[in-house]
Parts: sequence; C-alpha cells; structure tokens
Amino acid sequence: MPRVFSGIQPTGSLHLGNLLGAVRNWVHEQDQADSFYCVVDLHALTVPAAPGAVGSQTLELATTLLACGLDPARCTLFVQSHVPQHTSLGWILQCTTGFGELRRMTQFKEKSLGQDSVSAGLFTYPALQAADILLYDTDSVPVGEDQRQHIELTRDVAERFNSRYGETFVIPQAAVPTAGARVMDLQEPDRKMSKSSSTDAGIVGLDDPPESVVKKFKRAVTDSLGEVRYDPDAQPGVSNLLSILGAATNRAPESVAAEYTMYGPLKSDAGEAVVELLRPIQSQLAEFRSDPAAVAVALRTGADKAESVAAEVLERAERHIGLLPRR
Ligand code: TRP
Repeated sequence: MPRVFSGIQPTGSLHLGNLLGAVRNWVHEQDQADSFYCVVDLHALTVPAAPGAVGSQTLELATTLLACGLDPARCTLFVQSHVPQHTSLGWILQCTTGFGELRRMTQFKEKSLGQDSVSAGLFTYPALQAADILLYDTDSVPVGEDQRQHIELTRDVAERFNSRYGETFVIPQAAVPTAGARVMDLQEPDRKMSKSSSTDAGIVGLDDPPESVVKKFKRAVTDSLGEVRYDPDAQPGVSNLLSILGAATNRAPESVAAEYTMYGPLKSDAGEAVVELLRPIQSQLAEFRSDPAAVAVALRTGADKAESVAAEVLERAERHIGLLPRR
C-alpha cells in the first residue's frame, strides 16, 4: 500500500471547505493507503498566540478529525510535538535547505507581509514540513494547491540530501485534488472558504447548528443572471452552490444544475444537504467532546505508531550523515 502523509494546523475551527476539500478524502483514503495524519502544532508556533491556546486548539482539531471519521484503527492520527523526531530532522533539513529557496516561498511572503515582527520559525517552516513528510517514507501528500510549492521544495531537499549522503529519503509526490472540491466563500464566491475570511456569514463551520447553516445558504451571494448553469467564471456563486450540493450528495455539479431553474430552491436544497452531511459528524463530535480520555488514548496510540516509523528514518538519516552514534 502506498504511504500517505498530510498535516493540518490547529488554528481556528474546521469548516465545510476543509471537510469537502481535504478531510473527507482523508477518511476515504484510510482503506486505500497506509495513511499518517498529523496535527502540526509546532507549525502553529510560527505565529504569535496566547499561552495555552495551542494545546486546546490541538485537542479540538483532533477531536473534530475523529468525529469526521478518521479511525485510529485504520490510520495513524497524531500530534506533531508528541513525536520528537520531527524537530530533530527539521533541524537537519534546515541545514540542507538554501536561504534563497526559503525566501522564494509564497506562503512566507504572504504571512510575513505587513507584520511588524516575523519569527525565524515562520521563515524555516518549510524545512520542518519537509521533515514531517520525509520521516514517514511518504509516497503521496494530499494537499491543496497552495501547498504545492512546499512539496516541490521537499522533493528538492530530499534529492539534495540523497545525493550528498546517499539514498536516504523516498521522494514524495503532491496529490492535489482536481477542481470541484474547492469550496468558495458563500459571501465572496471569488475566494476560497478560509479561516481567515472576513465574514462569518461566508464560512460554514462544522459545528454550526442546522438553523445557522440554512440561514447562511439562504443569504449566499449569487448573481442577477437568473439562470442555473455550472460555470464558475461567469456564475461563481451559483456554481459554488452547485458544487457544494453535488459534493454533499455525490453528484457532478453539472447534473445538479439540470434540476434547477431558480436560485431559491437551489440555496435551500444546498443548505439542507449540508445539514444532513454535518448531522452525523456533529453527533460524533458531541460524543468525543464528552469523552476527552478516549481522544487522548487515540492520540497516544497514533504517536506510538508514528514514532516507531519516524525513529527508524531519523536514525537512517543520522547514520548517513555520519553523526557520532551515542553508545
Ligand atoms: N503547511 C501546511 C498548511 O499550511 C500544513 C503542513 C505542515 C503539512 N506539515 C505538513 C501539509 C506536511 C502536508 C504535509 O496547510
């Protein structure tokens, strides 16, 4: 089975875009690959946060991922800081990555723009991400389009390390989902639904109560063309509703479009479909929230499984570099 690895930052709660664009695929992939999913809490430290916030957000995200259907018996779900090999290999890869390479990363440029203080960690972030991936002999990394550059860098760094020190790392590939799984903001359908959106009305949270989901869809921005076609350029709002309704009911947006002539019914059906999609997740979420000990056990199991793989790969890298072994 191919080895799959992906990471998700514990910043802000999950929304419909995360579910349809990423997490749902992870849940399906559990049985088709040997999958590792990591809550990357150390990456979250690259930007300032209140003391204690990262731990509670990590727990909340892990709880939500379990509620969405990641099953510790079928995948390895763990917290990055629980597996110390990530920082060890992260340092080694900082020393394998060029300053100039890191300076070209668009995520760094975007995140540092206009900030009066930027941590060194924000700059070296992609080297830690490369360590995350390479520690697991990963074949495939399911990520959004915005992460493609980081995966390319990971490949370059792995190849450089291998040619410098001998065959050590598996060269991973990005697996970017094809368009359609991209959920746009309900208020600004030209931009991706995102944690950093300005309005709450444009984002559907996974624990939004049904009334609020329905209301957000009723108020979704459409257009004045008065026809229902799947054409994301000409009709971004309507097409977003079609692709959400399609994704929630496992149909192609074009075939959903054929069933509607008016916006009102499309909005209310999309809202209802999302309520149904979220219903089992919300009930699981309530159960896991009432049993944090079960979440802790799942994460400990995940960390143990992850560490057994990561320790071997780190040891291989250290041996190939020729660090003096501790005896
Ligand atoms: N940088 C990724 C993001 O911002 C998160 C991430 C960290 C990640 N390590 C990873 C994604 C390893 C894939 C693989 O979304």
